[in-house]
Amino acid sequence: MKAGVIGLGYWGPNLVRNFISNPEIEKVTACDIKNERLQWIKSRFPSVETINNYHDLLKGDTDMVAIATPVDTHHKIGKELLNSGKHIWVEKPFTSSTKEAEELIEIADKNNLKIFVDHTFIYTGAVRKIKEIILAGELGDIIYFDSVRINLGLFQHDVNVIWDLAPHDLSIMNYLLDKKVAAVTANGIANYYDHENIAHLSVYFENNCFAHFHVNWTSPVKIRRMIVGGKKKMLVFDDMENFEKIKVYDSSVEINNSESMHEALAQYRTGDMHSPKVNQTEALSLGVREFVDSILQNRQPITNGVDGLKVVKILEASEKSIKNKGKLIEIK
Ligand SMILES: NC(=O)c1ccc[n+]([C@@H]2O[C@H](COP(=O)([O-])OP(=O)(O)OC[C@H]3O[C@@H](n4cnc5c(N)ncnc54)[C@H](O)[C@@H]3O)[C@@H](O)[C@H]2O)c1
Repeated sequence: MKAGVIGLGYWGPNLVRNFISNPEIEKVTACDIKNERLQWIKSRFPSVETINNYHDLLKGDTDMVAIATPVDTHHKIGKELLNSGKHIWVEKPFTSSTKEAEELIEIADKNNLKIFVDHTFIYTGAVRKIKEIILAGELGDIIYFDSVRINLGLFQHDVNVIWDLAPHDLSIMNYLLDKKVAAVTANGIANYYDHENIAHLSVYFENNCFAHFHVNWTSPVKIRRMIVGGKKKMLVFDDMENFEKIKVYDSSVEINNSESMHEALAQYRTGDMHSPKVNQTEALSLGVREFVDSILQNRQPITNGVDGLKVVKILEASEKSIKNKGKLIEIK
């Protein structure tokens, strides 16, 4: 297969490297409008062909193309590629709006083309292990999901901190919980540019489950931590840990049934903690394999356009909520 990568800024070179390493991919063409990025890529990966106009990819025999440009360009470039018969890999967040996402999904479906949305974390050993633990029923009913992703920088100029950082956590939440989101509220402030640099997002589900996300580009410390609270056990995923990334706590709360509410007693159980082993394979290489396999096997990839759309719906609603001082926005 022949692959292309458009956008060779911070993230695109990682895609070039992983496309080159995939045994099914025989040729990689890399594109950027900046010549210095093309020279840099050529110096690192001499086998890669470089071009500065992505329209050259539309005409050729490239099978699949990754879009690693700023989000406001994803829809335009994606639409042109799909209309030229190419399978597309789109960086997170999938698109700038629900409408754009729906249109790309429709074109892909009509032409039997695949859309892979790069929700990278879904291919990490840690998230896979957490899913296994949840599916095995170890945590019991999930009642909350609490996530913190904060550090100093990198300010993005085109989107706010929720659009930049929360797609990671929202895609993990959707993958792990498999529950229908009902509504969101969000608050945040913009201290330096027009876009919020710190924000809090709450997600309400149709059943009695709640999720909260704290994202911030102006934190003195880097924290990448989430807690999945179950009725039986609770789990902490700390991505800053090198070894014990996941800890499962045998802790829970039980309310003794009593005829009167006032007599109902909360009992707190704190048992052992264990830390399961996590596969360390680079997530992007597994993502590229999944994209290639989905094309060869003519099936939807695990992180497809519909998953991208679900995240974009929450991002869009969060922006509306922030503009209205935390108003509850329902999600259809
Ligand atoms: N999956 C992840 O973990 C992850 C991590 C970082 C960034 N991203 C995503 O990757 C995308 C790019 O982010 P980045 O941080 O690499 O941005 P960046 O600004 O560093 O790089 C974007 C590159 O695209 C190029 N470009 C813009 N328009 C182009 C066009 N029409 N044709 C060719 N090249 C063009 C720019 O010249 C630039 O080199 C964003 O959607 C971002 O959210 C994903």
